[in-house]
Amino acid sequence: MKFNNRKVVLIGTGMVGMSYAYSMLNQGVCDELVLIDVDKKRAEGEAMDLNHGLAFAGSNMKIYAGEYADCADADVVAIAAGVAQKPGETRLDLLQRNAEVFRSIINPVTESGFNGIFLVATNPVDIMTRITCEISGFNPRRVLGTGTALDTARLRYLLGDYFGVDPRNMHAYVMGEHGDSEFVPWSQAMLATKPILDVCRDSGGKFTEDEMENISEEVRTAAYKIIDAKRATYYGIGMAMTRITRAILGDENSVLTVSAMLRGEYGQNRVYVGVPCVVNRNGVRRVLEMNLTEEEQKKLDASCDTLRESFDSLKM
Ligand code: LAC
Repeated sequence: MKFNNRKVVLIGTGMVGMSYAYSMLNQGVCDELVLIDVDKKRAEGEAMDLNHGLAFAGSNMKIYAGEYADCADADVVAIAAGVAQKPGETRLDLLQRNAEVFRSIINPVTESGFNGIFLVATNPVDIMTRITCEISGFNPRRVLGTGTALDTARLRYLLGDYFGVDPRNMHAYVMGEHGDSEFVPWSQAMLATKPILDVCRDSGGKFTEDEMENISEEVRTAAYKIIDAKRATYYGIGMAMTRITRAILGDENSVLTVSAMLRGEYGQNRVYVGVPCVVNRNGVRRVLEMNLTEEEQKKLDASCDTLRESFDSLKM
């Protein structure tokens, strides 16, 4: 029986891209992984290094440095190319430089005949995903970004630690820009079967709403702290990319807060932003609309305005 060959092309073999590649290999998420980088020698070296670990991973994944033509029959093209934040830089500060990089990447991919799903991780990811959509001309549902998937994982980790519950049972989401204007719609956050705000209210002061705000801030500033400590973040985002790729290749219909184009949802249009989406082999199957409070809706609107203004400021 011939199984589908699950093929992924990674563009950008820096620390984020290679954390993704390493995670994809160790989790056995695809059958063929192609590495593309402007520095071909680096891509070849990275492929060699991973191949020498195959035996330890019990994997027969095909890994090689390739060309844009290899995108033709790929299921997913993941993009992690571009410059990363330096200490003191915001993600939005990277926009002009990474837009230049994307202008040289997207067209060769589409010219190869690629007909799969774009997964963008390069920051500012919401705007870079929209740029990918605009340049490629792909249906927006087939162009998604890592969005606030990593932020949501950070939130669940911190909530799990605070409440002493497995993070997988913390059903809470980070929405908005993957950046300074992101927020947590606490009215929608559940600790397994109970609203988190009710858990706090009924805890006799053991758990507090103030601490929820502190946790939101800890999530919002996490990347700055990691960058300050070790110059860059890459393991978390690499694993977030792997999780999203697994949902696509596995046709999972999993709910993940990826960066998706809003087309009327939450009263917003023509903006890519982190929202809970059903993700499967066709990309974003559906954007899930939560019943936000007036205050939460205002935060989402402000985040969308920030992203649209930044996109409009681009000299494309
Ligand atoms: C972070 C980078 C991926 O949040 O923006 O770690």
